[in-house]
Amino acid sequence: MSLSDTSNADTPKLFSPLTQRDLTLSNRIVISPMCQHAADDGRATDWHLVHLGKFALGGAGLVFTESTAVSPHGRIGFADLGLWRDDQIAPLKRVVDFVQAQGVPIGVQLAHAGRKAGSQPLWDGGRAFTRDQLRFQDGSHWRRLGPSALSAGPGWSVPDALQSDEIATVVEQFGAATRRAQAAGFDAIELHFGHGYLIASFLSPISNQRTDGYGGDLRGRMRLACEVAQRVRAGWPDTKPLFCRISAVDGAEGGWSVDDSAALARELSRCGVDVIDVSSGGLTEETRKLTVPRGLGFQVDFARRIKQEAGVTTQAVGMIVDGNQAEQILQSGAADLIAIAREALNDPYWPRRAREDLLLPSDYSTWPKRHGIWLAKRDEQMGDILRERRDAVARQRHQTGHDKAGIDKGSN
Ligand SMILES: Cc1cc2nc3c(=O)[nH]c(=O)nc-3n(C[C@H](O)[C@H](O)[C@H](O)COP(=O)(O)O)c2cc1C
Repeated sequence: MSLSDTSNADTPKLFSPLTQRDLTLSNRIVISPMCQHAADDGRATDWHLVHLGKFALGGAGLVFTESTAVSPHGRIGFADLGLWRDDQIAPLKRVVDFVQAQGVPIGVQLAHAGRKAGSQPLWDGGRAFTRDQLRFQDGSHWRRLGPSALSAGPGWSVPDALQSDEIATVVEQFGAATRRAQAAGFDAIELHFGHGYLIASFLSPISNQRTDGYGGDLRGRMRLACEVAQRVRAGWPDTKPLFCRISAVDGAEGGWSVDDSAALARELSRCGVDVIDVSSGGLTEETRKLTVPRGLGFQVDFARRIKQEAGVTTQAVGMIVDGNQAEQILQSGAADLIAIAREALNDPYWPRRAREDLLLPSDYSTWPKRHGIWLAKRDEQMGDILRERRDAVARQRHQTGHDKAGIDKGSN
């Protein structure tokens, strides 16, 4: 594995390149995976082109697709992206080509939702499908799968405990999706091993009560994660990086701990995973769950511990809201990359604004030429006027107390 950190004292770390294997990111800002429920039987649509394309225009260092199912049974909702069939490659390639044409690399997050498959989009309530609703459009049965016959919480049906031959099938589904990701031209893969989905449910002693080689002690519970990582690495070019998102703690009493995560990160690194993307929670919706309190950068300390204890490259995510905060996280050594989700929805140009937060001059050479040339002219012609207007608005907001507004305590 080659990791080169080419930051120097004059450039904020956030805007320093980072090389993973043969891929160089021009900055440390990563657009985090975000489910859109906009695919057509797993195929990307115009929505994905615009949704992901605008982040490329916005100057991110790397853009990830949403959770992309390796099997129809592994979808979170009906309209997730998928790479379980070959006809899903071309529509995704169209998105990949557009993002790369802007000079921005793009990765795909491969996932199997496991016992949390089949739920409504948040705008329809976000509830788990009932047994009756848990059917594909052609009426066939949509199976929830897990390590053991234990439901994800109230409202979730009991999953089918995977037989050992079915476990081998899941590993192969990740392998086949990897081949398709390569055919679509992706620059990176992220494995989704967090948020209580299939692989996460094998990791936790709460959801995994198997007595065979895929359960029991930590090594047994990590076995499926390692087999998937090895299978994907074997089918993915050596030149391209492999990321893995984990939940540092799973949010259940007596469940998966940060120490377990550090052990997993070490194992995954041995299997050829290059970056550990550190999220948390999502295993269970039971009332005994231990939620990680939300606040600015609430998962950063998990990334720090995993980086220190496992010696891996980490990506921090969760309520990272401006350039100064992001830079401080990188400077503190907690993480090498910063992922943003909701802030990017609010402002796809977040990376460009983060430059201003860090008092860097606008660099229009990094904008798409069709926009940058006009913005440079705009600065020449009306830079002073715009600055005066902005200062006047800021003074007015301050006088009327508008800038006391707090940060929304949303959840992911
Ligand atoms: C609309 C939306 C969809 C999401 N879908 C995914 C997903 O597909 N895979 C995933 O790992 N996380 C998903 N997340 C979680 C985000 O990637 C991110 O970890 C979380 O929102 C915290 O970051 P933030 O505070 O910058 O939003 C989603 C978040 C949002 C807001």
